[in-house]
Amino acid sequence: MNSVIVGIGGALPKKCVTNFELPADLDTSDEWISTRTGIKQRHIAENETTASLASEAAKKALEQAKISASEVDLIIVGTVTGDYTFPSVATIVQKNLGSKGVAFDVSAACSGFVYALSIADSFIKTGKAKCALVIGAETFSRIVDWKDRSSCVLFGDGAGAIVLRAEKNTDCGVKYCKISSDGAYADYLITSGGVSTTQTSGFVKMQGREVFKFAVEKFYDSVNELLRENNMTLDDVDLIVPHQANSRIIKKLTEMLGIDENKVLVTIDKHANTSAASIPLALNEVRDTIFSKKNIVLLSMGAGFTWGAALIKLR
Ligand SMILES: CC(C)(COP(=O)(O)OP(=O)(O)OC[C@H]1O[C@@H](n2cnc3c(N)ncnc32)[C@H](O)[C@@H]1OP(=O)(O)O)[C@@H](O)C(=O)NCCC(=O)NCCS
Repeated sequence: MNSVIVGIGGALPKKCVTNFELPADLDTSDEWISTRTGIKQRHIAENETTASLASEAAKKALEQAKISASEVDLIIVGTVTGDYTFPSVATIVQKNLGSKGVAFDVSAACSGFVYALSIADSFIKTGKAKCALVIGAETFSRIVDWKDRSSCVLFGDGAGAIVLRAEKNTDCGVKYCKISSDGAYADYLITSGGVSTTQTSGFVKMQGREVFKFAVEKFYDSVNELLRENNMTLDDVDLIVPHQANSRIIKKLTEMLGIDENKVLVTIDKHANTSAASIPLALNEVRDTIFSKKNIVLLSMGAGFTWGAALIKLR
């Protein structure tokens, strides 16, 4: 059994804030943000919530797949910014869609989507699910300290979703998906509080330079491991879709791999870092053309530290 991508969808809050429109008292500039990160704008949730964005992205993915919500028997949402402490965002999406089966969230910060993909792929390959919605959805604007210019300018809100369908007799689908973590780095990218510690969600705190270095290293190692384990070379890869945290991280990776920059998808200028939503939102940007490509590679890295890599063969 293979887990084949048959639909992609995305959702962004209506409000879009360019670097020029950030609060004046932040003491930042378009020049600093653009050159250090590649970010030009971010969408900020007002009436939208993580679950409403996730539901909208899921509906669009189902529309493209021409699959009805009643066929979905598994929903996994990668998120760390749920609407409530409980229930999960996934169960709210399940309610909004009117589907049945099993729904749950995965907490792996910016790696949430690749973690969710790995679990959904296992469910499908072991016969536990036939049709899965894998979603990354976040409202990071709600957990950044809007007085801390070193972090608040980096993030944005949004959601992306894919539909994975169980199919036999095809060599398409998720060919490889490896997720990893190293808790020794737990303090490097962390919120300043949480339900069990401060009874708040806390604000994002990070050691930016260390995160930067780790991301470049892990992206590079993960691609090479993926190629080795699948007997492939970079020539066999049509598109790399890395987590969108910083365009300089992506540029460094592209240089280290020695590949053409057209082979690496960059959407950070439009969305900023949307954590678990960044990879599926990037896929959504090219949803009308991506199915003409064959082998795509997804790369994630996030708090924990967590990281992951996936090889997907499209039809
Ligand atoms: C955050 C990041 C952009 C910072 O870039 P950097 O080149 O390391 O910059 P520094 O943190 O050293 O700060 C350099 C200067 O810019 C200033 N600065 C920080 N944020 C600023 C902002 N928004 N506007 C203007 N100046 C800013 C700092 O105060 C510092 O000033 P100083 O030299 O007078 O002390 C970069 O480290 C990064 O992207 N790291 C990865 C973060 C990430 O991706 N996190 C999520 C991972 S999933």
